[in-house]
Amino acid sequence: MCGIVGFTGTKEAAPILLSGLTKLEYRGYDSAGIAVIDSGTINMVKSPGKIVNLYNKTHNGSDLHGFTGIGHTRWATHGVPNEINAHPHMSEHGNIAIVHNGIIENYMELKEFLISQGVTFVSETDTEVVVQLLEYYYIQLKDLRDAIFKVLQVIEGAYALVILCKDYPDSFVVARKDAPLLLGFGDGCNFVASDATAIIEYTREVAYMEDGEVAFITKDNIDVYDSFGQPIEKEHHIIDWDISAAEKGGYAHFMFKEIMEQPEAIRKTMSPRIRDNRIVFDDLKIDKAFMEKVDRIYIVACGSSYHVGMVGKYNMERLLRVPVDPVLASEFRYSDPLVTENTLIIVISQSGETLDTMAALREAKKRGAHITSIVNVVGSSIARESDDVLYTWAGPEIAVATTKAYSTQLTLLNMLGLYFADMLHTVEESEYNKIVEEMQWLPEKIESILQNTDQIKYLASRYFNHNSIFFIGRNLDYALGMEGSLKLKEISYIHSEAYASGELKHGTISLIEKGTLVVALGTYGPLFDKAMSNVVEVRARGADVMAITTVSHADEMQKNVDFAVAVPDTHLILQPSLGIVPLQLFAYYVALQRGCDIDKPRNLAKSVTVE
Ligand code: G6P
Repeated sequence: MCGIVGFTGTKEAAPILLSGLTKLEYRGYDSAGIAVIDSGTINMVKSPGKIVNLYNKTHNGSDLHGFTGIGHTRWATHGVPNEINAHPHMSEHGNIAIVHNGIIENYMELKEFLISQGVTFVSETDTEVVVQLLEYYYIQLKDLRDAIFKVLQVIEGAYALVILCKDYPDSFVVARKDAPLLLGFGDGCNFVASDATAIIEYTREVAYMEDGEVAFITKDNIDVYDSFGQPIEKEHHIIDWDISAAEKGGYAHFMFKEIMEQPEAIRKTMSPRIRDNRIVFDDLKIDKAFMEKVDRIYIVACGSSYHVGMVGKYNMERLLRVPVDPVLASEFRYSDPLVTENTLIIVISQSGETLDTMAALREAKKRGAHITSIVNVVGSSIARESDDVLYTWAGPEIAVATTKAYSTQLTLLNMLGLYFADMLHTVEESEYNKIVEEMQWLPEKIESILQNTDQIKYLASRYFNHNSIFFIGRNLDYALGMEGSLKLKEISYIHSEAYASGELKHGTISLIEKGTLVVALGTYGPLFDKAMSNVVEVRARGADVMAITTVSHADEMQKNVDFAVAVPDTHLILQPSLGIVPLQLFAYYVALQRGCDIDKPRNLAKSVTVE
């Protein structure tokens, strides 16, 4: 969601900004723009739609000259995605241009004040208020730094801001509160970006901005100040993943590449944490004494990460016999949650920047809970604010619809549950050994599914024209269906819903008619027979049924459905790690048949940094 890039150095800025924005496309956006300072004038080019429009408008950047500039991809919140509302926004007298990620909550009040002072606004955005206010104070105070600190005292909400001032043609200023921003240290040049993908081509040396910090950036220096204006030293980090990890590498789509990377990603997540067939979390601060006190576990997340939490509920309750509640972060944060120092909060987030998840984390922390997070992006805000962070090591995930991050989160959560169960002796040794052994077979078993995609491809070609698809399942299969359904609707735009099979008869079954496609999930062995009864019910009402089951149940399933896709058997708590793969492939191939923009589905963002 909203991507930011800034550059200052000795090369033309525009092509660097355009290439950086292209790398940030995956975050989700609907308009884009860049601004570059040339001989004391800020020149701006903006456009609704894709970044290719900016390339075209600027002849690949060659029309804009200057060595310092800022760029932005906008995911519309205040005002439609048109050229005027696109960032950068320029102040009325052309002194200052800014790009912004986040939402300024008191923008109406500030706008009214500025209008009363004679300022004219051109856009519908909250961002324009910041740039106009900055120019207002700049004119009054005659000092950019003072004006910036003044504005930061006045604005409320979330922001990553990058500021260009025509009087400082060799520098820009950045400020952060509740929106991601990192500084990049180059050789004779420096950068700022929403995430490392935008700048890794130029530098791997970065520092993560913290809330309240402001940085003044020239090609030779980055001076960082805290919210009191005191200078601070930032810790430098080296990005250790390879640039090819953020490229398609011959695949048609990032999503397909990432589906294919799952076996390797799971290996990377798992292998450092299994020693002599025992799960080890060397750096986890939680000990047995704490776990013995824990009387409730909340798993807090959004989207697919929340679906991982749903699987976690079933598995952790089974293993630990403690209540485990998965809660949507956006609900949790405003629910006056029942959190005490005996509550364990597990936060799950691929990006580590989802605003609702971050806010939920802070709320729980305030109430004394211990926060353990499962995060993919190293150094992200959620990782930094948690008491314990467990990284999934899935590598950069670029497609908006998550696949490998989901799978590695699932692996890690299952490992954590088993680790706690071992600690508390709530799992039999033989059961523990069996699960750990089966876990280590997951990558091979997923590989075997990925080597045989023809059946799924065929099913996608058969069903891609449907308008509405239902996913049904019980227990772990219900959680699996939630994710399968989300994958499908995200990228194919087909209406889809997931139901607990037992709930069908309480309403949803009225939607089933001749030819409705139902994806029946029958991978959860203990309730297979119950799941079959529900399959029979929908078939009796004319539904076409495509089932996902296990090899051991395939024959039985095939008797009652149109098509049965079988995944290898594994320990039942791990079965969703296999069941999800054909569902991801099904969503992918359906979207492909429908000609959808698979990696960047409409209206969606990879990293959701607004409420
Ligand atoms: C967005 C993404 C989803 C993701 C969700 C939560 O909606 O499109 O794929 O599951 O955010 O993101 P997080 O980074 O917190 O896991």
